[in-house]
Amino acid sequence: MSDNQPVAVGLLGLGTVGCGVCNVLAQNAAEIERRTGRPLRVTHASARDVNKQRPVDLKGVRFSTDPAAVVNDEAVDVVVELIGGHQPACELIERALHNGKHVVTANKALIAVSGNRLFEAARTAGVALAYEASVAGGIPIVKMLREGLAANRIERVIGIVNGTTNFVLTEVSRNRRPFSDALTEAQRLGYAEADPGFDIDGIDAAHKMTILASIAFGVPLQYDKVHVESAAAVELRDVDYAKELGYCIKHLGIAKRCGGAIELRVHPALIPLTSLLADVNGVMNAVEVDGNAVGPTLCYGAGAGAGQTASAVIADLIDVVRTIGADPRQRVPALAFQPGALASMPVVEAGEVVSAHYLRLQVEDRPGVLTAVTEVLSSLGISIEAVLQKEPADDGASVPLILLTHPVKGTDICTAIGRIERFDTVLDPVVRYRMEPA
Ligand code: HSE
Repeated sequence: MSDNQPVAVGLLGLGTVGCGVCNVLAQNAAEIERRTGRPLRVTHASARDVNKQRPVDLKGVRFSTDPAAVVNDEAVDVVVELIGGHQPACELIERALHNGKHVVTANKALIAVSGNRLFEAARTAGVALAYEASVAGGIPIVKMLREGLAANRIERVIGIVNGTTNFVLTEVSRNRRPFSDALTEAQRLGYAEADPGFDIDGIDAAHKMTILASIAFGVPLQYDKVHVESAAAVELRDVDYAKELGYCIKHLGIAKRCGGAIELRVHPALIPLTSLLADVNGVMNAVEVDGNAVGPTLCYGAGAGAGQTASAVIADLIDVVRTIGADPRQRVPALAFQPGALASMPVVEAGEVVSAHYLRLQVEDRPGVLTAVTEVLSSLGISIEAVLQKEPADDGASVPLILLTHPVKGTDICTAIGRIERFDTVLDPVVRYRMEPA
């Protein structure tokens, strides 16, 4: 291909994001060509239903129901995979790579679960497999970690990477709505994944954190090692009590170094109201990266949407186009580190993770109850940071008791909770959240 010939793009999937990619490519064609030095043209596309009305002009595009026809067509230079899910997306990407085509994908589940193998296939074929849109939509966090912060040893990546869950928790907190009502609203507004459990139960965030941990620390993708806890059990009263103590509850993705190992987890956690992440509300995403040279940095923006995801997909297309014809060794390595330099650092078991905790107990309101609870904690070396006792419940005989602890190992707090729950004076299971420093 000569240096200024148009680049032929084949799109797999023409839903909201696929149409967004076509529209942004058309709308910003001149600006994009000033960056690439050659035009980008969508020449082929596939979708399940070719007759559906779409907000996009497909004049001149070869449009069919057969994605294999796109990845096998010699005229296509770059394949953009926007089908999502594991199969047939995986087979199609493998076929495209095998056919010598560069691939751009927004498929976080596929990269998190099968990325190690797919990146190796791309390397063998001498082509690029780019995935900026797979994490946090329009936020260029992959670019930031792979390139902008490449001088650093990354210490921690902590983020709000699922807009649906963040929207729900924001609604609970701001408008004091029950969790389930807020989730219905998120679904009505079209934010949630087809299966909202992917969002609320942390699976989507775990896919994204798998990718971020890999490119932050130079470790292989290891989705099966992420410790994941759902946000579905978060109750309005805990959001209220947390606020009273100076915290909010967010569903966080956390990847951080811990000695020679890493922590990799997704769960609800209390963070100080004064922290930057506490101000990330609604469907917005944000990722904080702490590098040893740069210090803390924060990337903020919309994590989903047609224009936002198209922005990330097209940024990848531009990167890929700039390297067409170049020696593949000059490309930024797929997982940021040279493939032979990826380290296999162990992932810390959840029980070994040390963090401060919020505990809520429903206890009988009589002398000695608090002493008995604090004795259990002190016998395990768990120090208390704050205690809050609320008004009696409707029965008049029991009260909510909230305790904040100093940092403690997961197994120790579980042992303490087990002992506390055996007291007759403790009426309900203890509610527990980790706390994450700002
Ligand atoms: N469903 C995701 C979210 C968007 O709510 O953030 C795509 O990853």
